Amino acid sequence: MCGIAGYVGSREAVSIVLDQLKRLEYRGYDSAGVAWRSGNGIAILKKEGRLDRLFQEVTQTKPTAHIAIAHSRWATHGKPSDENAHPHTDATNRIAVIHNGIIENYIELYQEMLQEGEVPLKSETDTEIAAHLIGREYQKTGDFVEAVRSAVRKLRGAFAMVILCEDEPDKIVAVRNASPLVLGIGESENFLASDIPALLPYTRDVIVMDEGDLAVITSDRIHLEDAAGRPKLPKITHVDWDIEAAEKGGYEHFMLKEIHEQPDAIRACLAGRLMKDGTVKLGDTLDEKVWTGFDRILIVACGTAYHAGLLGEFLFEGILRVPVEVYYASEFRYNNPILRPTDLVLFISQSGETADTLAALRLVKEEGIPTLGIVNVVGSSIARECDSVLYTQAGPEICVASTKAYSAQVASLALVALYASHLRGGDREKTARLQTALAAMPEFLAEVLRRREEIEAVAHDIHQAPLMFFLGRGADAAVALEGALKMKEIAYIPTQESPAGEMKHGPLALVENGVVAIFGITNPVTRDKSLSNVKEVAARGGTTVGIILDSDPLSAEVLDRSIRIPHIDSPTIAAAVSALPLQLLAYHVARLRGCDIDKPRNLAKSVTVE
Ligand code: AGP
Ligand code: GLU
Repeated sequence: MCGIAGYVGSREAVSIVLDQLKRLEYRGYDSAGVAWRSGNGIAILKKEGRLDRLFQEVTQTKPTAHIAIAHSRWATHGKPSDENAHPHTDATNRIAVIHNGIIENYIELYQEMLQEGEVPLKSETDTEIAAHLIGREYQKTGDFVEAVRSAVRKLRGAFAMVILCEDEPDKIVAVRNASPLVLGIGESENFLASDIPALLPYTRDVIVMDEGDLAVITSDRIHLEDAAGRPKLPKITHVDWDIEAAEKGGYEHFMLKEIHEQPDAIRACLAGRLMKDGTVKLGDTLDEKVWTGFDRILIVACGTAYHAGLLGEFLFEGILRVPVEVYYASEFRYNNPILRPTDLVLFISQSGETADTLAALRLVKEEGIPTLGIVNVVGSSIARECDSVLYTQAGPEICVASTKAYSAQVASLALVALYASHLRGGDREKTARLQTALAAMPEFLAEVLRRREEIEAVAHDIHQAPLMFFLGRGADAAVALEGALKMKEIAYIPTQESPAGEMKHGPLALVENGVVAIFGITNPVTRDKSLSNVKEVAARGGTTVGIILDSDPLSAEVLDRSIRIPHIDSPTIAAAVSALPLQLLAYHVARLRGCDIDKPRNLAKSVTVE
């Protein structure tokens, strides 16, 4: 997802693009690099780790150039390393490419190119394949821009791609397809970046590239054309945001930005993995005999990741009919767990650095039990130490409260369940329902986001509650825990969360006027039982709010307030989608209560201590 920067003009290009990268640092990265046109060709410097390491190397090199491109990487294909950092070049080193996103068909393209001759790979990345493809096209035609056009027509996936050619020292070519790219207009100089904050110190006149656009940028001209190659008049926007607002994409907080990124995060998670015919490709994964041999799954995680694991339990037990046990990592590691050689243990972690989860992983590995990581940060400790890892591809998550990473964790667990089901002959009907619901999950989330104003209105009505219940049955009970955690950690409201059926075994004593009870009611099978619990709360003066399905005509009659989500055939995916309204409720309640939403008191984004 990370950072792209570019400059062409009369000033010192390398220092400008590195300054632009620095302004994109908030997006997270694991390595970085820069390419510039020097007197004798294209020069490249790239380093794993923090930007400062690259800056030190550049300072020693003292480059002078009037055209440069730079990239901060959020690795998806190939671990963070100097070799995998961008820019990547073709075999002749006359084409240099930087890229944000994922090229889904990079393996097919590589195999096709091999038919025409050796492809001397220098990295493990999908991006390098694109560099070779553009280089091949360029060798055929000698026309740099046409070479990019014809190569891009063969690419599938999400990419913002920026290219330099040694023989065209005053030209940058840029292509946008799903990953963002913005152009900045200067006086006899022009800029580009993956996000507006990197442009604001230099210009406030920007062109946001549309899907499929190709741009040819020189110091005094920007040529823009659409996916069909038709020239188009650039739409120039004058940005009057301050820089901090721009880093949040114009949203007031990173949390709100990341809540809104969920449809794209799930698209990135599923890209190249959930095929149109329903099959699943996990790429480099555990040995097939592990997938067909396990007879129990353990899931170990903390916080929100643990809550995603609870939905994983419903997914795996529903489709594979194997027992699943979900553990808090902080408990697992000290409770002398019973482990068996036929177990498969999943470790879920956004950061991949949570101390308790990492310690639990090491304990399991000592027993020689197969381990699979469901991790967001590429190259993190948990990702590296698991026998295999499935990256959630949610992109950097800045807000302490996890939102898009949670949804991507659930989507990743669904991919694992489908993958195992195809290998083990899981329940065909449930597998088909899950495939359909998972493929549509991004659109379900987008539809809920279109209803955000009604969710905000409910938040306004409940934001002064002294206590909030979060209740549900089945998968809705698992999501209730997550909704409660969001409300606790950013709005600081005390919560009581449990399966709805547990109310009468004690918690009901807490219900009185002013108490709000939020119910997840997204499974028609348990709806009527849940409505009985709603009435129990209402009879004692509590205010009831429900997350219900569009297809449910009855619940809204019983609840004080209801928030609808689209009808979803898979109970687990429906419950997962219902987490989004709960995230928005917590966000708006916290905002109304004046809380520090992105950095809540007492908490850290990655708990690397016990
Ligand atoms: C969730 O909103 C919190 N930030 C916290 O519970 C978090 O999920 C937990 O610390 C686990 O973090 P991890 O996913 O990075 O391992
Ligand atoms: N897929 C590319 C890689 O892994 C680009 C990742 C990014 O968006 O930074 O290098």
